[in-house]
Amino acid sequence: MGVDPLWYKDAVIYQLHVRSFYDANDDGYGDFEGLRQKLPYLEALGVNTLWLMPFFQSPLRDDGYDISDYYQILPVHGSLEDFKRFLDEAHEMGLRVIVELVLNHTSIDHPWFQEARKPGSPMRDWYVWSDTPEKYKGVRVIFQDFETSNWTFDPVAGAYYWHRFYHHQPDLNWDNPEVEKAMQEVMFFWADLGVDGFRLDAIPYLYEREGTSCENLPETIAAVKRLRAALEKRYGPGKILLAEANMWPEETLPYFGEGDGVHMAYNFPLMPRIFMALRREDRRPIEAMLQETEGIPESAQWALFLRNHDELTLEKVTEEEREFLWEIYAPDPRFRINLGIRRRLMPLLGGDRRRYELLQALLLTLKGSPILYYGDEIGMGDNPFLGDRNGVRTPMQWYADRNAGFSRAPYHRLFLPPVSEGPYSYHFVNVEAQQDNPHSLLNFNRRLLALRKRYAQVFGQGTLTLLPVENRRILAYLRTYGEERLLVVANLSRYTQAFHLPLEAFQGLVPIELFSQNPFPPVTQPLYPMTLGPHGFTLFALALPETIRVSAPDWAEEVTPEMLPQVPMEEGLESLFVETMADERARAAFLKALVQWLGERSWLALKPQRGELYDALRFQKTSPLYLTLLQLEHHGRTLVFLPLAWDAEERESSGAFARTRPREGYLYELSQDAGFYALLLRRLKEGFQGRSLKAYYRGEHRGPVPEELTLLRPGLAAGDGVWLQLGLVQDGGLNRTLETLPRLDLPWILPPEGQLVWERGRERRVLALTGPLPEGKPQEAFALVQTLAAEGLARLRGQRLEEGGAGLLVEALRELESLARLLGVRLALLHQRLKQVEGEGEGVPLLGRGLGAFLEVSGELYLLALGPRGWGSPLEDLARMAYDLERAVELAWESLGEEEEGMSQAVGAFVVEALLGAYQDTVPEPLDLEAWPGVMASWAEVQLQREERSIRLRILRRWKERAR
Ligand code: NOJ
Repeated sequence: MGVDPLWYKDAVIYQLHVRSFYDANDDGYGDFEGLRQKLPYLEALGVNTLWLMPFFQSPLRDDGYDISDYYQILPVHGSLEDFKRFLDEAHEMGLRVIVELVLNHTSIDHPWFQEARKPGSPMRDWYVWSDTPEKYKGVRVIFQDFETSNWTFDPVAGAYYWHRFYHHQPDLNWDNPEVEKAMQEVMFFWADLGVDGFRLDAIPYLYEREGTSCENLPETIAAVKRLRAALEKRYGPGKILLAEANMWPEETLPYFGEGDGVHMAYNFPLMPRIFMALRREDRRPIEAMLQETEGIPESAQWALFLRNHDELTLEKVTEEEREFLWEIYAPDPRFRINLGIRRRLMPLLGGDRRRYELLQALLLTLKGSPILYYGDEIGMGDNPFLGDRNGVRTPMQWYADRNAGFSRAPYHRLFLPPVSEGPYSYHFVNVEAQQDNPHSLLNFNRRLLALRKRYAQVFGQGTLTLLPVENRRILAYLRTYGEERLLVVANLSRYTQAFHLPLEAFQGLVPIELFSQNPFPPVTQPLYPMTLGPHGFTLFALALPETIRVSAPDWAEEVTPEMLPQVPMEEGLESLFVETMADERARAAFLKALVQWLGERSWLALKPQRGELYDALRFQKTSPLYLTLLQLEHHGRTLVFLPLAWDAEERESSGAFARTRPREGYLYELSQDAGFYALLLRRLKEGFQGRSLKAYYRGEHRGPVPEELTLLRPGLAAGDGVWLQLGLVQDGGLNRTLETLPRLDLPWILPPEGQLVWERGRERRVLALTGPLPEGKPQEAFALVQTLAAEGLARLRGQRLEEGGAGLLVEALRELESLARLLGVRLALLHQRLKQVEGEGEGVPLLGRGLGAFLEVSGELYLLALGPRGWGSPLEDLARMAYDLERAVELAWESLGEEEEGMSQAVGAFVVEALLGAYQDTVPEPLDLEAWPGVMASWAEVQLQREERSIRLRILRRWKERAR
């Protein structure tokens, strides 16, 4: 793994006990092989660093913190080979691994102690002895529920030995340089194997001096610095030390030195104050500790945590604080131990999901590197009957099966029983049950971790500024790194709160809510009004308004034709359009320019080689404008209907395809000019009539005529109460739409009412249709899919979809999934209904233009147009829709500035599956799914002629692979 010397600043740490995680060999103890097998779970969860609790040889009287051989792995956990295999695989996945360096004490079983206690032993000096228990009087006893003194008499040695923890854990004598050397060698041994760092267990207690508290002595700090120097000398930067010093802020800070001490230390002062602030519904305890723990060296980092394998310690809080916290969080003495509370996170919060989510959000967004304690990501509970702190160290709950899926050993062989009673029983609380449920805690955490990862540098290294919100129930802070600004707002109260955020410095910026990607109203006043529900929290990015944009489909891209081809034109447009008055040279130049222009328009989907003017009608005299029918030649023939105009001035709207000389001016193609649509509508309303050399043009429109129309895509415009569609490609689709839609009698179609038709003898072409529009803002379905996809993808960014990612997809893409399903159902109903109305058709595709056939108005989806003939071919119609869905997803992904294909592909597949599934659920006959990839591949092949080549190629490649 490449060494980023500051990696620990972006670390998101998962603390676990190998013993409790997963048992691969069914002996009742978790092991390295089991942990290795579960690595994909951890990777998918979204953490990037593992901290393993002690797994060394030990009599396990302090759960492994009593080591009897630093170089041996406890056999139940596997061999050194197993460890290496695990470590290599973790590294391959980009996970770093921190192990324990328990350097203050050993087990009494350690050979060093066994040797030292012998009378006259040369090793006597490895531990701390005294003839009387009076030495170092007044030093506090830490495990006060179990020990009454820091001294225990050893009859073999005939002396007292010093121990800050259990009496079976004698303290090493750090005044003896051999001890220090021995511990450094232990460190080198594991670092040589490749571990990335060490947790320095019980670090404050290394040295003892008479008349002091024997804690945090300058000698201890100096030893820590020597440890770091030794580590760096041997390996260079990249391996880290993490200090476990449960102390007051000013006692902890010296461990960082001037950047030459530990890299990280737990923020013990902050942790209990988070619980306190929550209970008091007042941010001040947190604020105070954030201030007290500020100003650590540039390279140093706090490790943040809510819960771990020990009790929630209340050693370093004031007496009043302790009484308060005890009373609130552990009214039952069974949950108290020493000076703390032995409970896991979820039960500590009374099972309150809201408070849980709030605290997790703080944990992951406050300044420092967060640590998650195994099992807390699924809200595991505890078992207070297990003694010591074992109640929070029970087996990880994987399944609802026997032994929580942790081990297949007989129950009585398990190292500890899994929680099997009450609301936290593994029958309800387990990974499997949560993996596919989008609403589970696990998936909440995965989403939160993905956000954390996405903004790793802001959260890990950025500055934190508290906002002085007047309402003290609100904790709000700004995290800034470079140009990026994130805002965290949290309601500590159990009731809804209204408040104002002082955002004076951020006027004009738009808060974007990170989970949903919803933009909030821009900041326009110094005090930004907001409300938050009970224990609610919101994460915002403060964005510049211009950065919020979904990329338009390619037809909407500005085209600035620099070098327009020239068309010779002496007089008026008749020299180009009217056969009897045409100037052949001019006409040829004009057609050539137009054909070239059309070949570059993606809505046309073909590259014509030649074009002939089939018919033209002057539609407007001043500001000359012609309605034309153009015969295009490519591998086949296509007739298109185009409005074309001339203007002496350069117009703002795009559409210019040629310049005219000597009569100076420009030729315009108006299929993308909303003004033309408005003009046409007015003329239809007047009852338009016209005659060209070839045919009659007749039009009518009975509905409203709004001032303005908006272009939804080339060919389709809408305004208040009305839509207007041009048959740009004359494939007969509009003829059929006009005839058939009114007969279908389905509530979700918009039947046409007005039209413009071209009539020559018995030949009849529908050039345009109008119809009524329900109230609301219309959106073309493709654009809608694109917007929904962009929102969904932005929510998913950084999330890992392997290992049960279905829940994440469902949650992030809910709107898009519903839309795809709705399309599937409607398409199926349409096929059925058309079959009834028109009888058996030719089985040709029904939809001319995929999603473009649909229009959304105020949340309702309407069918607007049909393809030319037939009642439809299920697979081909589905392919047209599926293709558009995938393409919209790809465009959305691109507009987020993302390139890596995996995510958009997964989303595309998910949406297409929803479409197919809904269709199948609606029709009685099964689809021929074997043919499906082939049908998709051929449609994708046809579509390749259009623009956005890279996206279209990508989709084609996928389906070709599947078709194979
Ligand atoms: C701190 C550890 O976290 C705790 O579990 C252990 O009992 C003591 N150190 C003694 O090693």
